[in-house]
Amino acid sequence: MTIWYGGDYNPEQWPADVWAEDSRLFDLAGINTATIGVFSWGLLQPSEDVYDFGVLDRITESLDGRNVIMATATGALPAWLARKHPEVTRVDFEGRKHVYGARHNHCPSSPVFQRFSVELAGRIAERYAGLPNLVAWHVGNEYGGSCYCDNCTAAFRVWLQNRYGTLEALNHAWCTTFWSHTFYDWDEIVAPSALSEHWRGPNHTAFQGITLDYLRFMSDALLENFKAEKAAIRQHSDAPVTTNLMGFYRPLDYFRWAEHLDVISWDNYPPDDRSAPRMALTHDLMRGLKGKPFWLMEQTPSTTACRDVNPVKRPGVMRLWSYQALAHGSDTVLFFQLRASRGASEKYHGAVINHASRSDTRVFKEIAELGAELPLLEGLVGAETRSKVALMIDWNSWWAVEISDGPSRHVSYVQTAIAWYTALQRLDVDVDVIPVDGNISAYDVVLAPLLHMVPDELGRQLKGFVAGGGKFVTGVLSGRVDVDDNAFLTDVPGPLARVLGIRVDETDAQPPTVVNPVQLDGLTSEASLVFDLVIPEHAEVIGTYSADFYAGTAAVTRHRFGAGHSWYIGTMLDAAGLDAVLGSVIEEAGVTGSYARIDGVEATRRYKDGQRYLFLLNHGDREVRVAADKSGTDLLTGSQIEAGDKLVLPATGVVVLRSDDV
Ligand code: GLA
Ligand code: ZN
Repeated sequence: MTIWYGGDYNPEQWPADVWAEDSRLFDLAGINTATIGVFSWGLLQPSEDVYDFGVLDRITESLDGRNVIMATATGALPAWLARKHPEVTRVDFEGRKHVYGARHNHCPSSPVFQRFSVELAGRIAERYAGLPNLVAWHVGNEYGGSCYCDNCTAAFRVWLQNRYGTLEALNHAWCTTFWSHTFYDWDEIVAPSALSEHWRGPNHTAFQGITLDYLRFMSDALLENFKAEKAAIRQHSDAPVTTNLMGFYRPLDYFRWAEHLDVISWDNYPPDDRSAPRMALTHDLMRGLKGKPFWLMEQTPSTTACRDVNPVKRPGVMRLWSYQALAHGSDTVLFFQLRASRGASEKYHGAVINHASRSDTRVFKEIAELGAELPLLEGLVGAETRSKVALMIDWNSWWAVEISDGPSRHVSYVQTAIAWYTALQRLDVDVDVIPVDGNISAYDVVLAPLLHMVPDELGRQLKGFVAGGGKFVTGVLSGRVDVDDNAFLTDVPGPLARVLGIRVDETDAQPPTVVNPVQLDGLTSEASLVFDLVIPEHAEVIGTYSADFYAGTAAVTRHRFGAGHSWYIGTMLDAAGLDAVLGSVIEEAGVTGSYARIDGVEATRRYKDGQRYLFLLNHGDREVRVAADKSGTDLLTGSQIEAGDKLVLPATGVVVLRSDDV
């Protein structure tokens, strides 16, 4: 099976004679796949009773011989719908009712939106299910945001009734006796917004319970939109259905979405070109949602358009990042977009084909070179990742820690996860991202940065895991709240205290400029932000603070529990400190990879049909030479490699070594 190579294609913006030119250029670039119709609702349905598929029919004809990913066209609303049925637009966090404009702005709870979107998805599915080159369905586009309208408030009350059953249970969960909030009627509950519980924005709330439940509700409400369109597609087609996710996108709990998507797909737009670990972790998160390969649905070939400054991807970087996606489990390399928009906000966004239709631009040439190379990796599609190390990610902990008043507003869930992951990557370990209800028994090491909220069941499982010989690492601000975001009425870190063999007596938060150096074995780590005063009840101390009134006391501990060990990192260590502590964990577990600690080099592996595919990626700006750990074929050059041979990785260079998996 070939790797799908292509991306979003919106030729409805162009006169039809340009389409023939597109086809010629697609052939030159090796483009075999196009996603179409994402924003064509306004074109397909000019008014309530009129559908017109003429243009989309002709677009599909122009793609004869290429894979088609067909969208349900509900990525943006048509103007007539908002005018005729104002309920389809949102009320924002500040309570402002929005009128028609932009995109990604439908109210998920609007019965009118639900009816029209499902109707359109069904008609598109019915019309195109039989297309011989149809390979998948793409519902909506980048679901996100939130709405605070009356329809959403009513739907929220129903969602709460399903969750809690009684007002008594809800009052208990939300701790409503605090500030006189006891609810005696469901209709007294309103959406938590700037007009009700919030101050200074969405993260500052008087009642974490209601805010957390609204986040959960809104994620579910948008998921219902996806599910409804998917059900309409299923009436006509069995082809896989997906929607493009956005990686670490806080508003949507993708672990709850995952089971409803046939395959995970996502859009990779890193904040800058120093984001290699962030991208790698995000690919692993996307793979972890279903524990299966995923599709890279979008990346820019060169520039974005929406930022204040939009740099071009340097030579070789588009190729390097495309291989990074493949290395972490993607089966596709897809772009936004295949031809540059003629107008509006994305006319300067990078594209495979520019406004002048040139095939001699640097970007086009790099795309064509990659297009010629990808067929060399044919056997890769569907290959699995194997890992002994799991990183636990949880949207509930993410929400809870970032909407918390105290101890610190400076702690970022994602930055913390990236910091831990970066240390793991430097040790060359393949990492699986797992949810809090994932199967931890499959791993040797489980790491859970900022495991702020601990479901009862997880506390029990972690004890069993470590007692049975596992290695568990967690850190500051973990084990703080139950699933309702109420404090445990025990020592910190609550249900994790026993397995960690510690208790936290106090937590000192300081401005970002304050450093308290932590002495680790032979190394000083500049710790910052939050400092747990750890009482090592049964644990050994492996790191101590060196400043302030708690100088000399425990900051990092290690505890033997049953046949295993657990570590507690009671502060935000700097990169060197995390390297040292996580390095010792990985060494003890005996899972350090052959390509550990090579600056700039990322190594990952995938496996299929008795073959191992080793990816070596050089993110640095200098040439690196590494010794092959096994004999095999260098797939991109065709050379035979013996174990111990030097593999040369120029800056942005990539090697894919296929070896027997023995
Ligand atoms: C998102 C969207 C696309 C496009 C790109 C631009 O990923 O899905 O429609 O707007 O961003 O970067
Ligand atoms: Zn709404």
